[in-house]
Amino acid sequence: MPSDTFYTAIDIGNSKIASVVARVGTEGELKILGTGVVPSQGMNKGRIESIDEVRAAIATSLEEAQRYIGRGVVAGVYVGVSGSHITCVNTKDVVQNPGDIKDVDAHLLNQLIQSSFPEVGHTQEVLHVIPIGYDVDGLSGVRNPVGLHADEIQVDAHVVLGDAVVLKNTIKAVESNRVSVQSLVLQSLASAEATLTGDEREMGAVFVDIGAGTTDLAIYRQGSPWYSAVIPVGGNQLTRDLQVALNSSFYMAEEIKLKWGHVYPDMLQGSEDIVIPSYQGQPRRVVQRKQIAEPLNARMVEMLKQILLKVRQSGLRQIPDGGLVITGGCADLAGLQELAIKTLGGPVRIGHPRGISGLPTNLRKPAFSTAVGLLLWGIKHQGERRYYGTGQSTLFGKKSFFSRFKREAKSKAGSEVAAH
Ligand SMILES: Nc1ncnc2c1ncn2[C@@H]1O[C@H](COP(=O)(O)OP(=O)(O)OP(=O)(O)O)[C@@H](O)[C@H]1O
Ligand SMILES: [Mg+2]
Repeated sequence: MPSDTFYTAIDIGNSKIASVVARVGTEGELKILGTGVVPSQGMNKGRIESIDEVRAAIATSLEEAQRYIGRGVVAGVYVGVSGSHITCVNTKDVVQNPGDIKDVDAHLLNQLIQSSFPEVGHTQEVLHVIPIGYDVDGLSGVRNPVGLHADEIQVDAHVVLGDAVVLKNTIKAVESNRVSVQSLVLQSLASAEATLTGDEREMGAVFVDIGAGTTDLAIYRQGSPWYSAVIPVGGNQLTRDLQVALNSSFYMAEEIKLKWGHVYPDMLQGSEDIVIPSYQGQPRRVVQRKQIAEPLNARMVEMLKQILLKVRQSGLRQIPDGGLVITGGCADLAGLQELAIKTLGGPVRIGHPRGISGLPTNLRKPAFSTAVGLLLWGIKHQGERRYYGTGQSTLFGKKSFFSRFKREAKSKAGSEVAAH
C-alpha cells in the first residue's frame, strides 16, 4: 500500500488536540482508521507557550489514534494553525507569455501562482497562495486556464501569512514525535473544507469556527477564499464571564456552560432551576437558567459584532447571500443560530463536518470540523509543499521564466488583515 493513501490530521486547539488517521481506498473512498482526542496543554490562542507540553499532548493523541491500527501508518500529516499572527493579502500579477510557450499547462500555472508571492519581512512566512481567478487575454473570471492559449494572464491570489517563529515551533512540536509534517493549513480554511457547501462558496459566505481560544474567520467569494482573519476570542471567554457571574471556578463554570449554556435568554420560557455546587465555603445555590444565559448572551453578541466588524474590514458592506456558517465547539451553544440571525440577519446555519461517508459519530460534531477538514484539504492538495516559506527558498530563488515577464507589481486588491 503506497504511503500516500494514508492521511493524518492534527488539530492543535486551545482546548483539545485531535489526531485523526484516515486512509483513501482504491475507489477513492475515505475511511477513518483512528481518532485520538486529548485535552490541550501549553497552547494559548494559537501560539505554543510550552513546547514540551504541546509535544507530549500530541504524542498522546497520536498514540490514541494509532491504537487499533499499529504504528507506522502515520503519514502525510496535515497540521492546523491559527492565532492572531495570521495576516492575509490579495495579490494581482500580470505575466506575459514569452511566445515560445504554446498552451498553459499545469506546470506553468503552478509557476505563475508562485510568482504571486508577496514580499514578506523576515519575521513572516507564506502559508498559502490560493488562486482566486484568472484573466486570460482580457477575458476575466477564468477559473482554470489550463489548455488555453494565452499571451497574457493575470492571476488574483489570496495569500495567507503567519509568524515564522510560530509556524516553525508548530512543526517542531509535531515532528519531535518522529512524524513528518506534510503541510501546515490555516485552521479556518481546513474547517471550511469540511463544512461549507459548493453553493455557499459560490454565492459568497462568511465562515467562522468558534473554538475555545480563537474565532477563525474566512470569507468565500465566487468559490474561493477571499479574506481570512483570526479574532482572539472564543468559548473560554464565555466560561470566564460565567465564572465571574456565578463566582465559581473556571472548571465549574465550564461544566455548567456545557450542560446548561444558552445564549438567547428570551427563548427560555419559565424557570429552569440549576444547582450550583458549593464553592470556596459558599453553600450550594439554585439559579435560573435564564440568569446563566445573560452573561453568555452579552459576550456572544459582542463576538458576533466582532465578526461583522471583520466583514466590514474586508471591504464587504454586509454578509453575502450564502450567509453565515458557524462551526467549532461553540456552535453547539443553544440559541446561537437564533441569536446570530437576530444580531446579524440571516441566513445563518450551524456547520457540521460533512463530505465523508461513514464519518464516525464522534467526529460529526462542529468541534471536529477542523480535524476532518484537514484530511479533506490533504486529499485535495496532496503533493503540495508544506508551506511556502520566506520566498528566499530555492523554488523562489529560481524565478520561473513566466515570472520573468511579470510587469505589474502586486497590488492590495482585497484586504490586509492584522487581527488585533
Ligand atoms: N455543547 C456545548 N455548549 C457550549 N459550548 C461548547 C459545547 N461544546 C463545546 N463547547 C465549547 O467550545 C469550545 C471548544 O471548542 P473547540 O473544540 O472547537 O476548540 P479548540 O479547537 O480546542 O480551540 P481553538 O479552535 O480556539 O484553538 C470550548 O470553549 C467549549 O466550552
Ligand atoms: Mg479549533
